[in-house]
Amino acid sequence: MAVSIKSNAEIELMREAGRILALTHDELAKRVKPGMSTLEVDRIGEEIIRSYGCIPSFLNYNGYPASICVSVNEEVVHGIPSKNRIIQEDDIVSLDAGVIYKGYHSDAARTLIMPAVSDEVKELVKVTRESFFEGLKQAVPGNHVRDIGKAIQEYAEAHGYSVVRDLIGHGVGSKLHEDPEVPNFVTPRRGPKLRPGMTLAVEPMINLGEYDVYWLDDDWTVVTEDGLPSAHYENTILITDGEPEILSTAPGITL
Ligand code: MF3
Ligand code: CO
Repeated sequence: MAVSIKSNAEIELMREAGRILALTHDELAKRVKPGMSTLEVDRIGEEIIRSYGCIPSFLNYNGYPASICVSVNEEVVHGIPSKNRIIQEDDIVSLDAGVIYKGYHSDAARTLIMPAVSDEVKELVKVTRESFFEGLKQAVPGNHVRDIGKAIQEYAEAHGYSVVRDLIGHGVGSKLHEDPEVPNFVTPRRGPKLRPGMTLAVEPMINLGEYDVYWLDDDWTVVTEDGLPSAHYENTILITDGEPEILSTAPGITL
């Protein structure tokens, strides 16, 4: 399938979706604390998203039962919020959220560090975020989708980490998941050529140990095979004539 090129009007709606999503993550980062259940995190996140008049795009997506994916420690992605899962002082908490604004999506993830996280795991979170920015540098017209994943993988592996293979980034727009696939690792095919107007969700999932993962019996939660922690960082980006633009951001917030 051809990768869609967004019009200026569509990009404007995605900028607004992204701005609201960035503000949502910023507010969650301030409010999520040890002692809270992951269900409370979901409730707060949904309330913020709706307060901006947006729809949480994950809610009921393929039957997913919540608005925010809350994945703790060895949970890689798609953790289901639960009143019984209480965030601990030494947890890392990955929050993945999507919003729909006037029919257009933005998708972004952050990994939060609770106060007693070890330096070793803090470094994993830092490098995961940095690996996104390494990929971003390659998100320029004329390059191919594979150049993004190659940069992410090289950066993560140079730090001794591994890149999850069973989940990937994706195009995003009037649907949450569009073409192209955006792997965070090198693939045999170079993928589509990047062109101005393409909008992508680039989302490295980086493991402290080995890259293998499996699905829990809830059919959603993805966890590392070796039980070691995993971090996730994601933004919705726009390919332009020059430098890529991060759409899931807002003035005055830290990415
Ligand atoms: N950001 C996630 C992704 O791109 C979306 C979560 S899937 C959902 O795969 F079902 F939880 F919405
Ligand atoms: Co995504």
